[in-house]
Amino acid sequence: MFKSAISRKCKLTKCLCIIQYRNLSQASTKIKENFFSNKVEAWQIHSYGDLNELKLSSTHMPIITRPTQLIVQVKAASINPIDVAMIKGYGSTVLNIMRQAKKLNTGIEFPLTLGRDFSGVVVAKGHGIPNDNIQVGDQVWGVVPVEQQGCHASHVIVDENLVAKKPNNLSHIDASSILYSGLTAWSSLWITGGLCYKTAIPSRQNNRILILGGSGGVGTMAIQLAKAWNQQVVTTCSSDAVSLLQNLGADEVIDYKESKCDDKINQEGPYDIILDCCNQGTDEIKRKGYLHSTYITLNSPLLKNIDEHGLVFGAIKNIGDLLKYNIPVKDNKSFVKWGFFAPSSTGIDMIQKLVETNAIKPVVKKVYEFDDLPQAYQRVSQGHLRGKIVINMKN
Ligand SMILES: NC(=O)c1ccc[n+]([C@@H]2O[C@H](COP(=O)([O-])OP(=O)(O)OC[C@H]3O[C@@H](n4cnc5c(N)ncnc54)[C@H](OP(=O)(O)O)[C@@H]3O)[C@@H](O)[C@H]2O)c1
Repeated sequence: MFKSAISRKCKLTKCLCIIQYRNLSQASTKIKENFFSNKVEAWQIHSYGDLNELKLSSTHMPIITRPTQLIVQVKAASINPIDVAMIKGYGSTVLNIMRQAKKLNTGIEFPLTLGRDFSGVVVAKGHGIPNDNIQVGDQVWGVVPVEQQGCHASHVIVDENLVAKKPNNLSHIDASSILYSGLTAWSSLWITGGLCYKTAIPSRQNNRILILGGSGGVGTMAIQLAKAWNQQVVTTCSSDAVSLLQNLGADEVIDYKESKCDDKINQEGPYDIILDCCNQGTDEIKRKGYLHSTYITLNSPLLKNIDEHGLVFGAIKNIGDLLKYNIPVKDNKSFVKWGFFAPSSTGIDMIQKLVETNAIKPVVKKVYEFDDLPQAYQRVSQGHLRGKIVINMKN
């Protein structure tokens, strides 16, 4: 029985290789050479710890196991704070449950490749992807959900719905900097903040939005998205980033290190939405007394609670944490919500259109070569970023 299971698995793998080979017949000679050299380089961690865990490994070419998957040769990828946090084991309890449930990587977490957004070239695709959607050889950009093997590697395997043709007006470097932080800003404002319906009601247009921490990866995207949706944007940053955020279209930029910062923020309010991209926290916002309807933080305790207290007690603590701030009392009529990265094809479509019309521009702070990836992680972990850190692959 064991033997027949192995033989079935071998047949399946052979069949999938044939599918990939057939798809490759459309590709250029260079793409074919790279594919068959079978050399995939990936920065991986083999246990949780500090940045020294990152090791450059040579691994096998990933194999397509579902008809809607494709393999992308990565040309550039960005680094996000979650990559640094995941090296320390952030979210591992929930992510392992998701990996086992989806039978990803046969449920084994190590070696783990990080990296969530990329730009590159399709080198193979499953038979369920029609040619009029995506073809081998297409230049694409996309995101990888957090429970999957990431894109800080020469090749990444990803589902078709999270990949789209790369906007022609962007290089691979610029394209790779946008989607993870863009989809986080999109889901927080459009879905969690309700701008999807508020912008459709004329009397609710032109909301006032306060973006705390406008100078980072998510903040620079949130400002541009909110302006593209005709919202009034007030944002905070350090003095050296003020002109950058004015150039991105923010209506009012406030230096948060100025002594009168809180007075200025209060004068500009009240706010329909406060999007907190710098982990100020619910208690701090209440203490400062910024008048608002909805406060959205990107630093929810959701995964941390489960890491620290286990699935059941962590989930109970999460419900408690959310209810604590949302029980209506006389002097508190605002909502507290948690914003997340959403791997969404609808979000990618919306961002794609805005990039193609230059309503959203990439903000790249620095580009590192693939071999220097640990230095790039070091830079992200130091904070004070203006936009994104990007890795240039040697492909
Ligand atoms: N839940 C999710 O799915 C999700 C997804 C993406 C990001 N996040 C989280 O969201 C946060 C933002 O992500 P990111 O990629 O934008 O990070 P980032 O690129 O590091 O940006 C943070 C920015 O905030 C600025 N800042 C720090 N303290 C500030 C303050 N008191 N007031 C105003 N600005 C301040 C920083 O610059 P200065 O320090 O120089 O002022 C920096 O430019 C991170 O904590 C990240 O972990 C969560």
